[in-house]
Amino acid sequence: MVSQDRHPLEAAQAAGARLRERLGRSPSVAVVLGSGWAAVADALGPAELERPAAELLGVAAPTAPGHTGLLRASRVGPELVATLSGRVHLYEGHGAAAVVHGVRALVLAGARTVVLTNAAGALRPDLEVGRPVLIADQINLTGASPLTGAPPPPPLPGRFVDLSRLYDPELRAVVRGIDPSVGEGVYAAVAGPQFETPAEVSMLRRQGADLVGMSTALEAIAAHHLGARVLGLSLVTNLASGLAPAGVDADEVLAVGRDAAGSLGLLLAAVLRALPATGERTGPSSRP
Ligand code: HPA
Repeated sequence: MVSQDRHPLEAAQAAGARLRERLGRSPSVAVVLGSGWAAVADALGPAELERPAAELLGVAAPTAPGHTGLLRASRVGPELVATLSGRVHLYEGHGAAAVVHGVRALVLAGARTVVLTNAAGALRPDLEVGRPVLIADQINLTGASPLTGAPPPPPLPGRFVDLSRLYDPELRAVVRGIDPSVGEGVYAAVAGPQFETPAEVSMLRRQGADLVGMSTALEAIAAHHLGARVLGLSLVTNLASGLAPAGVDADEVLAVGRDAAGSLGLLLAAVLRALPATGERTGPSSRP
């Protein structure tokens, strides 16, 4: 658990060091599987280690449907990939530090690339339900930031972090190289858990968003702050409120994820194999 007495980044450093010790080496890639993506874990190779992330990293146990809370280490090509099946959200009553703790721990364990996946509502009718979309940028409307609070303990980077290249353009190009039909859009993060009103959706569209969801934005900031490269992929599970004739149905959101799991797994496994090589490291992370 993230304790009140020490800086959340120190808690994440300790969790990352424990994981590295347990694995005997650093993971080079961290993957977070959001709503609708859980079944994709099996496409990422057999587990070398699979335990509750609460036990390995001290993350809060997720309560969202389909989020198992497991952390799996598996080998994809030369990379050791640490996959969190599920995440915790602000709407579960957690603060920003708890929401990003798992991602921070994996980056501080050595992961240099972070792949964040989620389910999202589409604000553009050309974004098809059941299809993945690359996150090109985000609008954080949650009112929260993982960088609020005491400054990061040195030598970690300071909190006034530049976000002009939050989602790595080179990683997006890797995905487009594998599947040129994958779309791209701006992700608006809201706190949830209620879906939006049609008026909120029309505001989000005018603000320049293409997708809306309840996660990812804080994890992206936290990973980027620590120097990791971030790839974001949304699965479009529904047309957003007001665009969807019958409204938004939470069960439908999960069902779309289940149906798309096969193709998402193939895509993600191919992306991980095509990532610019990071190589294996056996010693402690060179990252501060
Ligand atoms: N809104 C917010 N979050 C979501 C949606 C949506 O329409 N679909 C899946 N997650």
